[in-house]
Amino acid sequence: MNRVALVTGGSRGIGAATVQRLAQMGFHVAFTYRAARDEAQAVAAQVESWGRKALPIQLDLVELGRIQPTVDLVAEKLGGLHVLVNNAGYVQRLPPESLTLADWERMIQVGLTAPFLFIQAAVPHMKDAGFGRIVNVSSLRALTGSAHGVHYAAAKAGLLGLTKSFALALAPYKITVNAVCPGFVDTDINKEQLRTKGAEILRQIPLGRVASPAEVAALIAFLCSEEAGYITGATFSINGGLRMD
Ligand SMILES: NC(=O)c1ccc[n+]([C@@H]2O[C@H](COP(=O)([O-])OP(=O)(O)OC[C@H]3O[C@@H](n4cnc5c(N)ncnc54)[C@H](OP(=O)(O)O)[C@@H]3O)[C@@H](O)[C@H]2O)c1
Repeated sequence: MNRVALVTGGSRGIGAATVQRLAQMGFHVAFTYRAARDEAQAVAAQVESWGRKALPIQLDLVELGRIQPTVDLVAEKLGGLHVLVNNAGYVQRLPPESLTLADWERMIQVGLTAPFLFIQAAVPHMKDAGFGRIVNVSSLRALTGSAHGVHYAAAKAGLLGLTKSFALALAPYKITVNAVCPGFVDTDINKEQLRTKGAEILRQIPLGRVASPAEVAALIAFLCSEEAGYITGATFSINGGLRMD
């Protein structure tokens, strides 16, 4: 297979696990990272050890003007673009009254505007290829809200509207667009919260544990597969039963 995937935030956590899973499925994989160069190099080396091409690209998603050229570079270097996973993200825990306009704008840029621009840039390549799968990594917080992350929850909820809208717009081209909403996953993003409130959190999760990044990556990878061609505009919860829709 010579299909190409692009994953944002592929240096750590869910993104790194997704890069690995897609490479194991046979994709050549480009991925972005913001600062974790060593981790990104290690992920790339792993992909190459499986005989697939890897292309790590440093990109802070606030640099919105770099998104289109980045996507075009991936297609040029790896031979097209078939799969996009909008995964990069961060949390910032603050009560709403403490959030500055700059905090709000950065979160919306990274969590919502950047995914929009990545999709816009990727679609022409997917149309050329006659195949397209887009997965947006949202969050349980898009469904529940977050008292200490109103900007995070707003960006993640916006991502669900973006998913459904692009699913409608791209259905005539057989390009599918779906969202996943993880609950608590064992990554750096919530290390502090799990350290301080771990026991309380685990008590609320019917399955009694957090997810591994690989478990979330497996769901994302399935949505990127040939077999997932009839799934579009859908939102998938993966939260150990914490919230059942
Ligand atoms: N873990 C959870 O429990 C959980 C739950 C719900 C949703 N999610 C979502 O899942 C996605 C992945 O999270 P994770 O838990 O895997 O987090 P993580 O381990 O902290 O990894 C985050 C990734 O995003 C990149 N990133 C962060 N800010 C960025 C920015 N401004 N520009 C470009 N890249 C940036 C990081 O790059 P560097 O490595 O270079 O910093 C890293 O590759 C996020 O969208 C998050 O909101 C996670």
